[in-house]
Amino acid sequence: MTEFNPIRTLPDPAGYRPGDVLVVFGEVFGRGYVNGLIEAAETIGMKVIYGTVGRREKDGTLRGLTEAELAEKGHGPIINVPLEAGFTSAEPGADTSLSDVLATVGRDWVNAKLDFNTIETLRASGERRFRASVTDFLAELRPHIPAGANVVFAHTMAGGIPASKQLLVVTNRIFKGTGARHQSSREFWDSDLGRLSAISFEEVSARTFGHLIDLSSALRDEITAAGGRVAYTAYGYHGTECLIDGAYRWQSYVPYLQGLAKIELENIAATAHANGINAAVYNAPEILTNSSGIFVGVELPLYRLIQAIEHEETEPKLSSAIRAQCAAKLTDGAGGLDQAWAILEAYHAAPETGFIYDFPSWPQHNTAEQMDLMVDSAMALRKLHRDDHDLITTDLSHLVYRACGHIMLHASWSLDAPTWWMGHDIVAKTLIEIGTGD
Ligand SMILES: NC(=O)c1ccc[n+]([C@@H]2O[C@H](COP(=O)([O-])OP(=O)(O)OC[C@H]3O[C@@H](n4cnc5c(N)ncnc54)[C@H](O)[C@@H]3O)[C@@H](O)[C@H]2O)c1
Repeated sequence: MTEFNPIRTLPDPAGYRPGDVLVVFGEVFGRGYVNGLIEAAETIGMKVIYGTVGRREKDGTLRGLTEAELAEKGHGPIINVPLEAGFTSAEPGADTSLSDVLATVGRDWVNAKLDFNTIETLRASGERRFRASVTDFLAELRPHIPAGANVVFAHTMAGGIPASKQLLVVTNRIFKGTGARHQSSREFWDSDLGRLSAISFEEVSARTFGHLIDLSSALRDEITAAGGRVAYTAYGYHGTECLIDGAYRWQSYVPYLQGLAKIELENIAATAHANGINAAVYNAPEILTNSSGIFVGVELPLYRLIQAIEHEETEPKLSSAIRAQCAAKLTDGAGGLDQAWAILEAYHAAPETGFIYDFPSWPQHNTAEQMDLMVDSAMALRKLHRDDHDLITTDLSHLVYRACGHIMLHASWSLDAPTWWMGHDIVAKTLIEIGTGD
């Protein structure tokens, strides 16, 4: 288990200069975390080089983006080599696919037995494809790096939920099911479907970081020989400290099935760091993005960022503005915010959620009582809003990724440690320092 290592003070300004390069290893989506790193890099004039996961044709062919899709992205330059990782998609012409393996799973998925030999063959083949793509990606990246420039790689990849209807039904119940629709995440994790998911999550969310570090060693040597620095950053999740009852307290979203893959991501950074490579995982707070939207209730601690900013400010300037902006989205204005605090106090103090504070036993499995309370609290908070499509959490997510991007970019200048936590305290302090960007 990685030792808890929170960032408590703003990192010193990094020595990056205009013309240095940020490389996005993954694809940028509108609300995604990496937008914060991009903002921070552009603020100091760094050049940003983008990636894509590519797209699958109907027949399964993995391809880069079309001209129209490239234009739609609205940014550039994009290295148009598809960086999709994992083995959940069927490859055209292949003898077998994951959907063939899953075809044997009937209603009794708990006791279903999967063919792990075939799964290993598929995994290895997906890994070969991914490593070949990364090699091409790095070859195309090389001419974008000016001699003597510093380079920061941003690993954003997370995923790997096998694309199957049966599994979707089960995972929907794990993440959203309440009452009679509750599904124990432990029961799932102990099944063959759970074992398969663990392999798939690790493949996409963790091992991709290792492949990047490994396959870029020649480029890294070239950059450092020319006087530049190379840093590898990755987004982790391993719970977050937020302000509860007036003190910062570590808590976690449950059930975070990707947790073991995120621990592996930390291990990969630790191994690289031990070999003198500047690689670090930055464990980041819960926000709402394209990827996290399926985890109902993941956003509960996010509301508390308002309290953290208030707590950190000597004079309530930023916090007053954010409070007003958030209250305006609620039917009862400031009264609505008071109702929000009441819901959160009840949620965080309830005996049903007592285990979400236990760092050593992370990642925990769900319980029926905890899920009922978490999903009900999330729904109750949502109902306080005037408009279901204009949520407080959208604004707060933006603030969090902005602050985290700033912290990560500047912290990446030195290689102090391979794993860090960015809690609401440092996010709040950073926002007070750099502003909201509006
Ligand atoms: N949203 C949160 O609450 C939260 C909290 C802490 C850490 N993170 C981490 O932040 C990172 C970015 O996630 P985000 O929440 O901003 O969502 P996002 O949807 O913007 O980013 C997800 C990334 O994963 C990539 N990806 C998905 N499937 C892939 C595959 N099969 N192969 C290769 N790449 C794949 C996408 O291209 C994208 O870059 C992830 O590592 C995530 O675990 C998110």
